[in-house]
Amino acid sequence: MTILVTGGAGFIGANFVRTSLDVSDETIVNLDKLTYAGNLESLQSVSQNDRHIFEKGDITDVALIDSLLRKYKPRAIVNFAAESHVDRSILGPEAFIETNIVGTFRLLEASRRYWTEMEAEKQARFRYLQVSTDEVYGSLSPNDAAFSETNKYEPNSPYSASKASSDHLVRSYQHTYGLPTLTTNCSNNYGPFQFPEKLIPLIIHNALDEKPLPIYGDGRQIRDWLYVEDHCDAIRSVLANGRVGETYNVGGESEMTNLDVVSIVCEILDRLRPRDKGKYFDLVTYVTDRPGHDRRYAVDISKIKSELGWTPAESFETGIEKTVRWYLDHQTWIEHIKSGEYLSWVEKQYG
Ligand code: NAD
Ligand code: DAU
Repeated sequence: MTILVTGGAGFIGANFVRTSLDVSDETIVNLDKLTYAGNLESLQSVSQNDRHIFEKGDITDVALIDSLLRKYKPRAIVNFAAESHVDRSILGPEAFIETNIVGTFRLLEASRRYWTEMEAEKQARFRYLQVSTDEVYGSLSPNDAAFSETNKYEPNSPYSASKASSDHLVRSYQHTYGLPTLTTNCSNNYGPFQFPEKLIPLIIHNALDEKPLPIYGDGRQIRDWLYVEDHCDAIRSVLANGRVGETYNVGGESEMTNLDVVSIVCEILDRLRPRDKGKYFDLVTYVTDRPGHDRRYAVDISKIKSELGWTPAESFETGIEKTVRWYLDHQTWIEHIKSGEYLSWVEKQYG
């Protein structure tokens, strides 16, 4: 059995490929364009595994997708490929429209053609799973109930609007053509192999480099945090047992302000790698807020818990300790990322 994973050289995709090869005997075909966010070094531990086949390419390339589907005949497609950083979507939305909307559309079209031609038994077992985000639901006020699957979509950034569009396309392909789709809407992930433009790895690396720790606005924005391997486990659970056409919210039941997250990361670093003078939190610097910054996300995960029996294995406390230790032990992974492209992003974003 084979699964086609797209975006499997990115943060969550690489964790998914790595952990899936461990827990199943399936082959994974990994299609990735290797944008700035894609990194084959994150897949080094599976580079000799003959159940992992890497294909460099773009999900907007219809001919390529058709040929991969004909060649590998996957029983499922899991679409991680996306432009994923909100700040980049504010500075340059076009790539988000291209990959997240047009790319998903082309992948759905190719999936539909492939699925239509399958024999009935295989058709019934085929699944297309879209990996999406809680950001499609918009922003919550302090006393609002957490997002449930029935919340209306109110995306606020070009990134979340592009993800909302792709979710709608997925829904329409199930409703109109009967393509057996599934969608997961997950909260903020953290863990190994995350690109250092995102809050947690950015804080760890700036702290170790004795650089300012940039906090947008007042730092009281709230996110729900989930350890990446728990997200991967949730995706496998939905893929195996989710009801066709359904969406499942995924989260860590771990709401925290950005300031609290930064303070916890700093405390762990103070313990594991103390500074010569002072505490890491002294490096905190308040910077201009993100335009349209969503104030609060929180995710109600009762559906995936009750229907599929999935719950996160890691608490934020255990997951963040593992994560900080991982970055301390893998400094070369990050050194290789600090390339020209990453430096020019830091210059553009933080001045
Ligand atoms: P990432 O930016 O780390 O990785 C994205 C990967 O997709 C990269 O390897 C990149 O090379 C690849 N890619 C980009 N455009 C492509 C294209 N046109 N064709 C083929 N490959 C392409 O992203 P991530 O954080 O791993 O997120 C993966 C998915 O999960 C995204 O769809 C994102 O919206 C969703 N998600 C992320 C989070 C989070 O906290 N990171 C939370 C919920 C949902
Ligand atoms: O909620 C799920 C989403 O989580 C995913 O869909 C996105 O792909 C992923 O990038 C993430 O989006 P966020 O915008 O929440 O993540 P980010 O790490 O960029 O920021 C987390 C919070 O920290 C957010 O409130 C902005 C703030 N922040 C971020 C950076 C990079 C800062 O205060 N300073 C910073 O330098």
